[in-house]
Amino acid sequence: MNENNQIPDIDFGPLSYLIGSWQGDKGLDVSPEPDGQEESPYHETLDYTVVGDVTNAESQKLAVIRYQQIVRRKSDNEVFHDETGYWMWDAASSTVMHSLTIPRAVCVLAGGLWVADGKEKNGISISVSAKVDDPDWGIIQSPFMRDHAKTIEFRHDIAVEKDKLSYSETMVLEIYGKTFEHTDMNELTKCQ
Ligand code: HEM
Repeated sequence: MNENNQIPDIDFGPLSYLIGSWQGDKGLDVSPEPDGQEESPYHETLDYTVVGDVTNAESQKLAVIRYQQIVRRKSDNEVFHDETGYWMWDAASSTVMHSLTIPRAVCVLAGGLWVADGKEKNGISISVSAKVDDPDWGIIQSPFMRDHAKTIEFRHDIAVEKDKLSYSETMVLEIYGKTFEHTDMNELTKCQ
């Protein structure tokens, strides 16, 4: 937003569909437990705000939005996931980038291509992914997490249709001596 509270004249590509505040109460988390898994229904708020654009090495121009995701377990209304980061759009290479950090000492820089299909009037979908040893789109984590609860892969699909946003994400973890697909999904409605 500029000082007049308006979206600046920048090409945000598919990210323009995300900008705003969203709420949803159809969330389902599947997370690891030593003896299996835990399934937790949740509700959340997801706020995307405009940062603007940045130029890298005087040649790459990125349009940038920032987000904050606050997730509460339905059973007790406690926050059990807090996430923040940026989404970036590089129009010249048709690339979407998603950087995120969670307060378990895990950071992800995921990327994916996005190409308009002519149906953007109805909405868009975006997919990004990262892998721990991928030279392009990677994952960084603390020594403790690397050794005890390692995130080896991240996949995130997000779709917006009018005032509805849905996402599903998968974090492949190595934890408790097994490989575990930690998943989250929700459907949200635009509230601002
Ligand atoms: C809506 C999104 C998410 C929710 C609701 C969620 C929730 C959870 C829950 C409930 C656990 C089990 C441990 C505990 O009870 O605290 C967990 C574990 C974990 N999550 Fe998530 N998570 C989400 C997204 C993510 C993302 C984006 C990442 C990383 C990119 C991630 C990485 C991990 C890791 C590494 C663990 C293992 C730590 C442990 O179980 O001790 N999570 N998550």
